[in-house]
Amino acid sequence: MTGLAIAGWGTALPEQRVTNADLAERFDTTDEWIVARTGIRERRVAGDDESTATLAVAAGAEAIKNAGLTPDDVGLLIVATATPEQPLPPTAAFVQEGIGLRCGGFDLGAACAGFVYGLVAGTAFLSLRCEAVLLVASETLTRIVDPADRSTFVLFGDGAAACVLIPGERGGLLGWDLGCDGSAAGLLSIPAGGSRCPTTVETAAAGEHWLRMDGREVFRRAVRVVVDSAHAALDDAGLTVDDVDVFVPHQANLRIVEAAASRLSISLDRTVVNLDRFGNTSAASIPIACAEGAAAGRIHDGDVVLLSGFGAGMTWGSAVLRWEGRD
Ligand code: ACO
Repeated sequence: MTGLAIAGWGTALPEQRVTNADLAERFDTTDEWIVARTGIRERRVAGDDESTATLAVAAGAEAIKNAGLTPDDVGLLIVATATPEQPLPPTAAFVQEGIGLRCGGFDLGAACAGFVYGLVAGTAFLSLRCEAVLLVASETLTRIVDPADRSTFVLFGDGAAACVLIPGERGGLLGWDLGCDGSAAGLLSIPAGGSRCPTTVETAAAGEHWLRMDGREVFRRAVRVVVDSAHAALDDAGLTVDDVDVFVPHQANLRIVEAAASRLSISLDRTVVNLDRFGNTSAASIPIACAEGAAAGRIHDGDVVLLSGFGAGMTWGSAVLRWEGRD
């Protein structure tokens, strides 16, 4: 076991709530359709003065405070995001400046699996002369969804969560599994705006800077990768699903969560679900659910917690933790 404790959590959720009824005024959709297909009832949307970096700064600063630390105590910053502040510099630069950190920092791009990737990477850094790692996941998905596409627009929301990782005494990373299948890259992508296809007047006119998704195929693969990856992480930990006290899956769609939990034989009362209130916040969804679960007393010291995420790439990642909180 790699010793790991989570010394403090922070979250930043935009004030602005957009309900399904609000979306039904804008698109040819209904609350019934969205709830039946996704389980989502409302989502938070960043205001004009908010962005991926401002949400990350707010969540990160709160996590450091809750850990009883100061910015000077942080030895490394990892920012998991699929919606960076701008193409260059890394979002971590804005977050480092905003919080007043003195350490190095970098962005981690693994889409909705970003927090789990960051947890595994952060744990590894703790064994490399690093006393405390600030892991932030921050997203503004509403800035990259096509405002004319009802099929993607209803799914996503904005938000951030952060935690401070420190060496654990009783808790730790018991097992993990990280994966990527690049042959599925086209299932969920933003075609333009990068090296392969720089932004031009033509790409902008064609809407190629917006997120595009083959939802049905992502759905089909998501259940499989979550189940396979969760089993791989549990095998790595030498545990079985019966040992899992709390399951925190990526909050993409209630049907995916229910199908994965059912195939894993993990009951829904052991599964944290908050996507009805926040929609899919990509890399931020698992840590927002963890922070809420811990604050609500659903996750306790000593619990075996299974985290599992999947996203564009396709990437996926699962981690099995012996929970040790310090709040
Ligand atoms: N309101 C009403 N009707 C809609 C809407 C809407 N918002 N969106 C699509 N429809 C229509 C479609 O046009 C289609 O109509 P048609 O039959 O006349 O052609 C019909 O509903 C069915 O569309 P499907 O796409 O087949 O619907 P499906 O049951 O697959 O649900 C959904 C769509 C919710 C997107 C589902 O496929 C899904 O959740 N997929 C997974 C997506 C996901 O998790 N993505 C995140 C990955 S994480 C990351 O990296 C960001």
